Amino acid sequence: MNFPVTRMRRLRRTEAMRSLVRETHLQSRALIYPLFLCPGEGVRKPISSMPNVFNLSLDEAVKEAERCAELGIGGLLLFGLPAQKDEQGTGAWADDGIVQSALREFKKNRKLDSLVMMADVCLCEYTSHGHCGVVARDGDHFHIENDASVELLAKTAASLARAGADVVAPSDMMDGRIAAMREALDAGGCDQIPILSYASKFASAFYGPFREAADSAPQFGDRRSYQMDGANRREAMREIELDVTEGADMLLMKPAMPYLDILREARERYELPMGAYQVSGEYSMLHAAFERGWLEPQRAMMESLLSIRRAGADFIVTYFAKDAAEVLG
Ligand code: PBG
Repeated sequence: MNFPVTRMRRLRRTEAMRSLVRETHLQSRALIYPLFLCPGEGVRKPISSMPNVFNLSLDEAVKEAERCAELGIGGLLLFGLPAQKDEQGTGAWADDGIVQSALREFKKNRKLDSLVMMADVCLCEYTSHGHCGVVARDGDHFHIENDASVELLAKTAASLARAGADVVAPSDMMDGRIAAMREALDAGGCDQIPILSYASKFASAFYGPFREAADSAPQFGDRRSYQMDGANRREAMREIELDVTEGADMLLMKPAMPYLDILREARERYELPMGAYQVSGEYSMLHAAFERGWLEPQRAMMESLLSIRRAGADFIVTYFAKDAAEVLG
């Protein structure tokens, strides 16, 4: 039926009518808030490029986590800034590592029971060179060794799970890491801990502010030999396929807004639960516009999250989690 029998505006007439036919909904339970843990006490260090985001010492992180639980947020994604970095990133799998210690503390706190504690698994915050794996130097050249890195990453995943992580989330993009992590988790008695794989993570300029927050900028070179080329949609599907066959339990797509087509295609092809990471640069970019009065903060924030949800994400990792949960009530 065409106009004038069909008039699309009939169902847009009132807010009550619009609510009735709304296809996509956001909920606080499906938002994950990233936390950056740092050594010390009483530390709440602002990240200059990310308004309202901080490096938090454990005591401050506990307060922040309690606030997230009160707001009904679904979980936290934990990153650690170790006191010391080294060539291998040994802090990543230390039993008393920064995230391991926080997890043990969080797991004793009954007020945090409603939060799914996710631990990011990567070496870049722990290595002196800032790469996500083991660096092999050869004169002026260098490369990131895949298999040696996978071994360390698997050890890290097992260590985080042992410390109490409910989910481990590898973000390194080495080949074969999911199978190696599954094996290490199972061998370590953590066969109930799921792997949320950053299955198709693109080498993106939008991670810039995060590298300030996590102090993880590569000291030389870039991440293009392990993270994906932003031009490649088919390759992203192959990456996901491999992670699925290696035993990933859930997928995390990243970045989100510049890659909504990848999210949509992954949603249509795969049955696994899927999250999307609205990364630091997406957050900073919106905040920069808010500060200039160029965008309406609340509406733009909610619309950005809705776009990610509509593209197919079940849950969203976002620095807006607290602000959005306040709006959602
Ligand atoms: C670690 C990691 C990064 C992000 C999540 N895990 C940085 C990177 O790959 O350089 C980025 C998150 C963000 O930008 O918010 N490898």
